Amino acid sequence: MATRLLNLFLPDKTGTKKDDYVIVSYPKSGNTWVRFLVANYLYPDEKVDFHTIHKLIPEIASSYKIKSRISPCRIFKSHSSFRSDFRNVIYVVRDGRDVYTSYYHYLKNKIPDDFTFEDFLSDEKHRQGDWSTHVVSWIEGTEELSSFLVVRYEDLLTDCAGELRRILKFLDISGLQNQRIQRSVEASSFESMRKLEARKGRPHAEKDQADRFIRKGKSGDWINHFSEKEKKIFKEREGEILVRLGYEEDMHW
Ligand code: A3P
Repeated sequence: MATRLLNLFLPDKTGTKKDDYVIVSYPKSGNTWVRFLVANYLYPDEKVDFHTIHKLIPEIASSYKIKSRISPCRIFKSHSSFRSDFRNVIYVVRDGRDVYTSYYHYLKNKIPDDFTFEDFLSDEKHRQGDWSTHVVSWIEGTEELSSFLVVRYEDLLTDCAGELRRILKFLDISGLQNQRIQRSVEASSFESMRKLEARKGRPHAEKDQADRFIRKGKSGDWINHFSEKEKKIFKEREGEILVRLGYEEDMHW
């Protein structure tokens, strides 16, 4: 009994406690957008930008160094695949074809010029494993967690206020205020975040505009980038999960 009580208060190896939450996603799925939305709502007196966000909702690996906000709960960010010690997880998911399109653009200046999009899809050398493996690891691991919420990037695009409300309820925030939700949605809109990036920059970002983090902010942009051959590569490796998640009805796309 004493050990159980102690465990409630002692951080484990990740630094998380029972009441901590982690916003998890495969890279380029909308993680930063969700962090901005949550931080703008919870900390209205803070100036949320690409620098302060790392203190307000820090990467979990840096949780020992950064004193994250405690009130009303501690929230972290991670791109890790499944970990049962994260306990309370908000999992952000996006169509894998848009994810890879976004990821490739993001890395373009950091990978060899001759590493094509086709190479990028068939070889995970420059990316964090496969999108589908990441997603499956989380949706199949939910029973081991205390609580789990899936947020779709595409739903944020169609009903951002509704999705933020759902997230805040999951975080057990009481007395939700519509105006405050609306203000948070506006402060975290594509246009607002793009302006913040242009004005204040991001840590470790190159000056080059091609390195822009807030890039297109759309769903379905993949169609402008995938050749027939690239579609086939994706389908063979990961198409099944696209169907399982409801992004396609079958493999005929
Ligand atoms: P695109 O490159 O397709 O535009 P992550 O934060 O997980 O790395 O995700 C980055 C992706 O989310 C980028 O996708 C980025 O533009 C998009 N994004 C970030 N903030 C957004 C917002 N407020 N509205 C729409 N998309 C946003």
